[in-house]
Amino acid sequence: MYKQKEIATNIFYVGVNDRQKALFENLWPLPYGVSYNSYLIIDRETVLIDTVDVCYSDIFLKKIAGALNGRTLDYLVVNHMEPDHSGSIRLLRQQYPGVKIVGNGKTHGMLAGFHGITDGLLEVKEGESLSTGSRSLTFHMAPMVHWPEVMFTYDAKDKILFSADAFGTYGTLDGGIIDAEMNIEHFREEMIRYYSNIVGKYGGPVQNALRKLSALDVETICSTHGPVWRKHIGEAVSVYDRLSRYEGADGAVVLYGSMYGNTEQMAEAVACSLAGNGIRDIVLHNASKSHASYILKDIFKYKALIVGSPTYSGQLFPEIESTLSKIEVREVRNRLFGYFGSFTWAGAAVKRLAEFAARMKWETVGAPVEQKQSLNETNYAACLALGQAMAEKIKEQSTR
Ligand code: FEO
Repeated sequence: MYKQKEIATNIFYVGVNDRQKALFENLWPLPYGVSYNSYLIIDRETVLIDTVDVCYSDIFLKKIAGALNGRTLDYLVVNHMEPDHSGSIRLLRQQYPGVKIVGNGKTHGMLAGFHGITDGLLEVKEGESLSTGSRSLTFHMAPMVHWPEVMFTYDAKDKILFSADAFGTYGTLDGGIIDAEMNIEHFREEMIRYYSNIVGKYGGPVQNALRKLSALDVETICSTHGPVWRKHIGEAVSVYDRLSRYEGADGAVVLYGSMYGNTEQMAEAVACSLAGNGIRDIVLHNASKSHASYILKDIFKYKALIVGSPTYSGQLFPEIESTLSKIEVREVRNRLFGYFGSFTWAGAAVKRLAEFAARMKWETVGAPVEQKQSLNETNYAACLALGQAMAEKIKEQSTR
């Protein structure tokens, strides 16, 4: 009954859309939802590439049965074992007991741990292939894009790369499956947010995978999340390349915490100075209000970060501390960094921000500003000077 989208002759999209989950990984907001993509190849052998979150297994199995049209399933290729893609494997095996599960050694270890499945496995190594009849699927290991067992599957016949999480994005597929069939505008920001939230720590492995891919002739990318990339394939690859090199665009994030508005006034002064000195892309984030998901997105997007924090219980403001920890975990590189802070009776925040900059090995731009109680004339001028110094540094490094 379910008519499945054919993305190439006898390759069907059988994924699902999740518009119910509020937080991906119970962490990251999903205003546009998320898709879990899966693809079915009908050939002499039938091959499914990845499964979906177990919450959607019922509709998923119905879609597969519809596309198989009475045939059985011969192979399941597992490119990634995170449960948003592996969650339906046990139920799939119950439905198709003879299905052979294709993965590498790490995949099969995780299959045993997550699902208790230890038989009917086919282990593949780098560069090995599986013939489906008219097609040959070749497997390329892509460890740590996003987990250690991740691999890509390449179909040379139609030049399709099944890329696991790589080139993925938040956002459901609202009718169209292939990028040329839809308005992709909101996916541009959502891809950066997805990358920074989920894959952001693994820039090196993403670069390794991109180098490996450069040897393949790829015309279509089938990721596990978001549109099938064909018309905009160059753009999708370029975004992942830029982000994994931690290359920021000309622009600045001003991130601040503030209890009573004193540190916020410093942030406003810095931002006004950035604008007055020619910077057009400026994002102010109140750490108590902006979700870290969006703050991380903008920090990956832009090359400059200026952080302001009040001193709170002798430490950084907790929401700032929490966000800096997420930046540190992701080992974000090459940011231009400025900082400022305020205190009432004993300052600590500015010292902590200096320690953060040293740990990140980032270039500090301008003189830090530290304000006791309300903003005074001297420190207002110092905030303007900090914004100006950062604006000049951004322009100096501009590649536009
Ligand atoms: Fe979409 Fe790393 O799982």
